[in-house]
Amino acid sequence: MCNAPSAEASEAMKFVDFCKKMKRFRPFEPSVGVLGLAVGVIFCFFLLDYRTVSKGARFASQNERFLWLRNDGGVVGRKKIDFLSEGGGGCDVFDGDWVWDERYPLYQSRDCRFLDDGFRCSENGRPDLFYMKWRWQPKDCNLPRFDARMMLEKLRNKRVVFAGDSIGRNQWESLLCMLSSVVLDKTAVYEVNGNPITKHKGFLVFKFADYNCTVEYYRAPFLVLQSRPPPRAPPVVKTTLKLGEMDWMSSKWRDADVLIFNTGHWWNYEKTVRGGCYFQEGPVVKMDMEVDSAYQKALETVTRWIHREVNTTKTQVFFRSYAPVHFRGGDWRTGGNCHQETLPELGASLVPSHTWTKYTIFSQVIANSSELREVDVLNVTHMTSRRKDGHSSLYYLGPKGGPAPIHRQDCSHWCLPGVPDTWNELLYALLLKREVAKASNVSRFHAQA
Ligand SMILES: *[C@@H]1O[C@H](CO)[C@@H](O)[C@H](O)[C@H]1NC(C)=O
Ligand SMILES: *[C@@H]1O[C@H](CO)[C@@H](O)[C@H](O)[C@H]1NC(C)=O
Ligand SMILES: *[C@@H]1O[C@H](CO)[C@@H](O)[C@H](O)[C@H]1NC(C)=O
Ligand SMILES: *[C@@H]1O[C@H](CO)[C@@H](O)[C@H](O)[C@H]1NC(C)=O
Ligand SMILES: *[C@@H]1O[C@H](CO)[C@@H](O)[C@H](O)[C@H]1NC(C)=O
Repeated sequence: MCNAPSAEASEAMKFVDFCKKMKRFRPFEPSVGVLGLAVGVIFCFFLLDYRTVSKGARFASQNERFLWLRNDGGVVGRKKIDFLSEGGGGCDVFDGDWVWDERYPLYQSRDCRFLDDGFRCSENGRPDLFYMKWRWQPKDCNLPRFDARMMLEKLRNKRVVFAGDSIGRNQWESLLCMLSSVVLDKTAVYEVNGNPITKHKGFLVFKFADYNCTVEYYRAPFLVLQSRPPPRAPPVVKTTLKLGEMDWMSSKWRDADVLIFNTGHWWNYEKTVRGGCYFQEGPVVKMDMEVDSAYQKALETVTRWIHREVNTTKTQVFFRSYAPVHFRGGDWRTGGNCHQETLPELGASLVPSHTWTKYTIFSQVIANSSELREVDVLNVTHMTSRRKDGHSSLYYLGPKGGPAPIHRQDCSHWCLPGVPDTWNELLYALLLKREVAKASNVSRFHAQA
């Protein structure tokens, strides 16, 4: 059906052209198109395999890859139920697979004014584009297709607040791009204090004027309060994290309509104790406290705060679980890399064990907390662990900066468009689901009356 390029024609551009031709087969129509896509995609993988193997990269076995394709029930398998339909409620949307989808990405970075240079990978010279093309397919149901107008309509007169570290900022910028893609009037989306988006500390509030809606980001990498040490603390103590108190900006979070937390990437020795930031409980600086137990106490403080301070009838609270990093052969200080990763992976061999430590502590606190029935967990850790191909790697320095030195890679943050868009699609699905559930409760009530 199409000519196989010869072995020497293995350059990226030709490959991409070839894959573009696959579009003609209209992958989501049944029969021939499906077969065409499947064969084409498999062929693409062989070709890609050839290219990357020849560069010395290691790959999952081909058997695994076939399995992975077969797993894509969206293409060949049985018809799935819609998550938003009445029967879709039991579906775990975080259990599934990444599937190739030609309709992605949802936007182009050059069309979005709200992105830090650090996330504009393809504009910064990243040569491969596949990382933009994967859609998340839950195993037992279908997600609603993201509709920015619908989401803005749902957010009319509302505040969306992200509070957390720079990975939360990554997700927030992704949502700004996803939503603003349908706002044609450039002056209708703006930062309310006129602050630029780049390198800004503190908080940023973007308003979508036509909808009277704001999408806000508060930088609070620990979520709890970081402040000066108490009097008579040892001189090595430069600051403390007060594990029982929320960040001072939390008063601005409480009345949001949608509140999305994340934390985790700063809870390590390097970003705390090594820099003189110790943990404090009540008036006491705990000189020997382990970072992981401090992390657990902080999460417990956040969950307690949600229970006490947030009206979860008004505010829909989400907690996004830890997003794995993918440094191969080191970490962020010691030359770890991810720049040769161009495909997702079935297993999670590159994900360091501290990811699962963070994740386990998080799930235990959540599971333990009967108060948290009203909190939706954005349980992205597992799905994201397979996306070693999605990081900024060498391409975070801006279009003029050129690729970063090979030993200074960013395998924590994510290229946009990319993986955080999927977290936001899940956020969208859960927002709509709650609305549907409410509506059906109301109609049931009326039916009874
Ligand atoms: C998160 O998702 C993974 C993968 O589907 C699942 O194994 C795990 O139990 C989920 N955790 C929670 C807390 O829902
Ligand atoms: C705009 O939204 C805010 C809440 O975010 C609300 O307090 C205010 O009344 C809204 N303004 C109008 C004109 O609806
Ligand atoms: C919580 O929010 C709901 C919906 O906005 C409101 O009706 C209710 O009065 C609020 N409860 C409290 C205690 O403020
Ligand atoms: C779970 O809750 C119990 C009682 O509230 C507490 O003693 C325990 O430390 C908690 N465990 C975790 C992992 O949060
Ligand atoms: C719907 O109603 C049931 C029982 O009346 C209640 O338990 C549930 O929380 C309600 N759901 C929502 C989303 O209001």
